[in-house]
Amino acid sequence: MPERDEGRGMSRRRILGIGGALGVVAATGLSVSAALARRPSTTGAELHSAVPLPPPFQVPLPVPAVLRPVGPGRYAITQRETIAEILPGVPTRLWTYDGTFPGPTIETRRGRPVTVTHRNELPVPTVVHLHGGHTPAGSDGYPTDLVLPNGWPGGAMHMGHGGHDPRAVVTELTRDYTYSLDQRPALLWYHDHRMDFTAPAIWRGLAGMQIVRDDAEDDLGLPAGARELPLMIADRAFAADGSLAYPSVDPTLRDRPGVTEAYAAGVLGDVILVNGAPWPVHEADAARYRLRILNASNARHYELEAVTDDGRRLDLVQIGADQGLLTAPVTHRLLPLAPAERFDVIIDFAGVPTGGRVRLRNRLGTGRTRDVMAFRIARATTDDSRVPPTLGTDLPAWQRPDAATVRDFSFRAGRMDGERGWLIGGLPFDPARADVTTSLGDVEVWRLVADVHHPVHLHLTGFRVLSRGGGPPLPHDAGLKDTISLRPGESAEIITRFDGYRGRFLFHCHNAEHEDMGMMANLEII
Ligand code: C2O
Ligand code: CU
Ligand code: CU
Repeated sequence: MPERDEGRGMSRRRILGIGGALGVVAATGLSVSAALARRPSTTGAELHSAVPLPPPFQVPLPVPAVLRPVGPGRYAITQRETIAEILPGVPTRLWTYDGTFPGPTIETRRGRPVTVTHRNELPVPTVVHLHGGHTPAGSDGYPTDLVLPNGWPGGAMHMGHGGHDPRAVVTELTRDYTYSLDQRPALLWYHDHRMDFTAPAIWRGLAGMQIVRDDAEDDLGLPAGARELPLMIADRAFAADGSLAYPSVDPTLRDRPGVTEAYAAGVLGDVILVNGAPWPVHEADAARYRLRILNASNARHYELEAVTDDGRRLDLVQIGADQGLLTAPVTHRLLPLAPAERFDVIIDFAGVPTGGRVRLRNRLGTGRTRDVMAFRIARATTDDSRVPPTLGTDLPAWQRPDAATVRDFSFRAGRMDGERGWLIGGLPFDPARADVTTSLGDVEVWRLVADVHHPVHLHLTGFRVLSRGGGPPLPHDAGLKDTISLRPGESAEIITRFDGYRGRFLFHCHNAEHEDMGMMANLEII
């Protein structure tokens, strides 16, 4: 396989189409039919915990605390180490936002800007990105816009293979991130985005949720209060000393990025956490719940089903995607969930007898990773919530002919700095290169093609899926997305509009290991 068979410029924008898709698959050494038929359920290698794991459905589901403002529209978060008991009786050192994993949930309203001051008391530089946020470039968490901890040697020069980035805005100890929140109501999440070291930083605990709401959504009558649950799903593994296992080349995360060769396709854990608890259980009313599901795993994909103890599968009624409400609900029995995707789902426990149980299971898991969490139905109740047939009314109506530009990007394995890497259009990430330059307000169609699983994410903007594998989008592609799950050998087309802010943004694969190993590119809006 040639190290790079697509250059810059012309060939980069070459229409890949089916021929390109075949070429990419052929280059990975799989035949197309084998790739499509087998469609392996995972891309990555699983770590095995060296401590005894608890039985499932014993630990109560935690719900992250809602962060209190320190002033009108102002929040403060300290990034610091803490020791937490994730597995019962096992102390685990974490890197956290404000001492908890997940970090505190930030509750916000559409169109009301907030500023979050982050203070870095961790031993390494950090960067905060609000995933799904419609955010000015200066607050978007560009990977070289580091917040240095006290006493970091060499300052901004010290940051891995990207070298010195003259455009980086590096601060010491603290940084204010200002979010305009001029966007549709949605579940967003904030996480670390440091160049070359994002995957291990998220793994150690640097992830939290942020919710944007508005009056129109509040008025729909959806399940609310205790019947609305944010669920951050993430897999982890534990070393013999109780610490989080992770195959970093340099476990200090100071100098050398990357993971050991065996894990280059992605790191999977053998423990499934929901809101930081292993295979938790939640006591629920026999009523409708709104589950706001986020896959915060580095590389693990899920295919969720909700199963009662007598073997019935409950409907998962999707009301929202990454970027907010669908126009109308979509009913799923199986819900595929790639890293960084969010699904807003209504589940109705009304038919489940008191004392009964509903398990959320992952059809792509094996052994212990088949279980995710359970609901124990504790009481019969009244339910005045509803799922209206019309949900969001403000979805963008971009059509193919609106597109000023059509671009093509391949996502696949390659070499970076002489080692295994992951490339977009044949190139590893370079902060100095503008991969896409586009004009503010332009509509574009992007054609994406993958060798293995690549959940592709765009900063700043939401998009709609136009096609998948040459056919229509799948049911779970509905609505406004910011992350699309490309499966092995698959191509897809998305349409978007680069709206709101000029400056330097990103698009990348959200398999966090791929992202650290080159699979990221610049999006320059002029
Ligand atoms: Cu979840 Cu570049 O982000
Ligand atoms: Cu993002
Ligand atoms: Cu990838």
